[in-house]
Amino acid sequence: MLSEKTKQKILALQKLYPEMRSALIPALHLAQREAGYLSVETQREVARLFGLDPNEINAIVTFYDMFFEKPVGKHLIHICKNVSCMLRGGDELMALVCDKLQVKPGKTTADGEFTVMASECLAACDRAPMMMVDKKVMGPVKDEDIDCLLAEAKRGVSDA
Ligand code: FES
Repeated sequence: MLSEKTKQKILALQKLYPEMRSALIPALHLAQREAGYLSVETQREVARLFGLDPNEINAIVTFYDMFFEKPVGKHLIHICKNVSCMLRGGDELMALVCDKLQVKPGKTTADGEFTVMASECLAACDRAPMMMVDKKVMGPVKDEDIDCLLAEAKRGVSDA
């Protein structure tokens, strides 16, 4: 359930755009910040605030990698699976990160710290193979960097 504060922020966002629905993406980011994901109930609440059918909200939530319908780890690791990164070791990077964290792609570690996801191009192809940990873009990632990057993420360095 959305807090009153978040609802008010969403209503304020709607006023910033000539078309209210232009505020949908930032509104969903605000809503997701509350629980870390967008439950069916939260999606319905956002739909009500916009006067939309909940299916329209769900179509957006399921289209974008940045929205989650289920709880995810405290830290998100996106590893690019597109061609530039694949040609420069992206698959091996995924395998190594998953091996270090003892998790499968798309899953969350047992301690709830990390969710590892294969992502479409992260728009830094010149830095292949690359990955994004929380808000920090990293690349080219070398095998020997991974332990340090994961430790930094746990300390919140990649959240800034
Ligand atoms: S292909 Fe990996 S960042 Fe573009």
